[in-house]
Amino acid sequence: MRRKVIIGNWKMFKGPQAARQLAKSLKLKLTDIRKAEVAVCPPFVSIEAVREIIKDTRIGLGAQNMYLQKSGAFTGEVSAEMVAESGCAYVIIGHSERRQYFQESDDSVNQKIGFALNEKLKPVVCLGETLSERESNRTEDVVKRQYIGAMKNIVSADAEKIIIAYEPVWAIGTGKNATPEQANEVHRFIRDLAANLYGKKFSEKMIIQYGGSVKPENANDLLSCKHIDGALVGGASLDADQFASIVRTAEKLI
Ligand code: PGA
Repeated sequence: MRRKVIIGNWKMFKGPQAARQLAKSLKLKLTDIRKAEVAVCPPFVSIEAVREIIKDTRIGLGAQNMYLQKSGAFTGEVSAEMVAESGCAYVIIGHSERRQYFQESDDSVNQKIGFALNEKLKPVVCLGETLSERESNRTEDVVKRQYIGAMKNIVSADAEKIIIAYEPVWAIGTGKNATPEQANEVHRFIRDLAANLYGKKFSEKMIIQYGGSVKPENANDLLSCKHIDGALVGGASLDADQFASIVRTAEKLI
């Protein structure tokens, strides 16, 4: 039996008040979920509000980013320790929007993973090619560079705690999802990379989520694929009905 992990990335939406409302709706709509692993990642300032609402549920909590130092004079940044103390179990690292707008590199992703693991957070590490990279047949090169870069010096006992999210940049927020075949193919490729680094057994157990315009309408086709173990959901996670529907689809497939 495979696990299915569905995580909502709320991005820069939902301040504390709106986040509370969304969390309340999700709590009501997801009471019957038993098998799927579910979490939401609100903006930092809304984490506490959401934590209060979901504390006795199976819905987990995550942050969307963290800084790569333990503490210090880094105005505007938030450490892994703070993320953990605020009740988060997950942290998204290296989302393509961070790589694109905030100069995140494979190296900073790798460093952040180290800090996150030190605080017992579960890193959700994002990989994915841009449209021009796909069109010039560089998808595998890019994903390989990102995966190997992210996992540098990470031993298998730690690597086991990491969720990988394959998110083709051209499919994020565009309404244009990768076809299940396209996604499954890259997931299989990532699994092979992991098998080379950590062995076949490891690679069979690792979680690889797909992200990029996942919606209730395409969730079943994507999540049914052999190598797709879940979804990192952006836009559709801002709507309780849509997110709950995706979670329910995952639950049925387990
Ligand atoms: P999207 O975003 O579902 O809105 O495409 C996914 C993501 O960025 O994680």
